[in-house]
Amino acid sequence: MLKTNRTSTYTINEIILNRWSPRAMTGEAIDDATLMSFFEAARWAPTAMNNQLTRFTYAKRDTKHWNTYFDLLAEGNQKWCGDAAALVIIFSRKISYHKDRPQPSHSFEAGAAFENFALEATSQGYVAHPMGGFDKEKARNLLGLDESWEIDAMFAVGEYAAEKSKESEEIPSDRKSLSEIVFEGELPDAFE
Ligand SMILES: Cc1cc2nc3c(=O)[nH]c(=O)nc-3n(C[C@H](O)[C@H](O)[C@H](O)COP(=O)(O)O)c2cc1C
Repeated sequence: MLKTNRTSTYTINEIILNRWSPRAMTGEAIDDATLMSFFEAARWAPTAMNNQLTRFTYAKRDTKHWNTYFDLLAEGNQKWCGDAAALVIIFSRKISYHKDRPQPSHSFEAGAAFENFALEATSQGYVAHPMGGFDKEKARNLLGLDESWEIDAMFAVGEYAAEKSKESEEIPSDRKSLSEIVFEGELPDAFE
């Protein structure tokens, strides 16, 4: 499992604290069974009316689709994604399968699916680093998706490189305090 020295105010399952978004990955390839186990975790995320609106496509490094996926990334992300084992596009259907109505929770569901994926990856010593820095329209065109689908994010997946991470002085980020984000009943006057 990935390890961080993050601490929480209340005791929680350590996998949640240890999931983070380092950039340092080993450059090792990932086998299909390992990668699919992460998607398996994502598949079990909650979904309104069991609509299951979230979809994924991926490219593994040194395979046919890698360069096309890599080219979608913003320059800043390309700088560190070269050592990823796979790049994933996560997208979601905006329209419910029930009565063909808009389903505004589609991206909420995609987020939940990503977190499941990331927690499973973390538990196996892998990084799943989400990215908004990529060309969404290019991704949409690549996949041939119309406007009934939202391109939610991309993420890089790879084995965590502890030494490299230390050398580049990556530090897991902290969070706002609970009192800044959680309120009982009503919002305080000074709220942002
Ligand atoms: C929607 C979204 C988009 C993000 N885009 C990028 C990105 O383009 N490049 C990057 O290096 N990190 C990106 N991140 C990672 C965040 O910077 C990171 O999750 C945040 O700083 C919290 O750190 P942690 O994930 O290590 O806990 C993104 C995260 C999310 C959720």
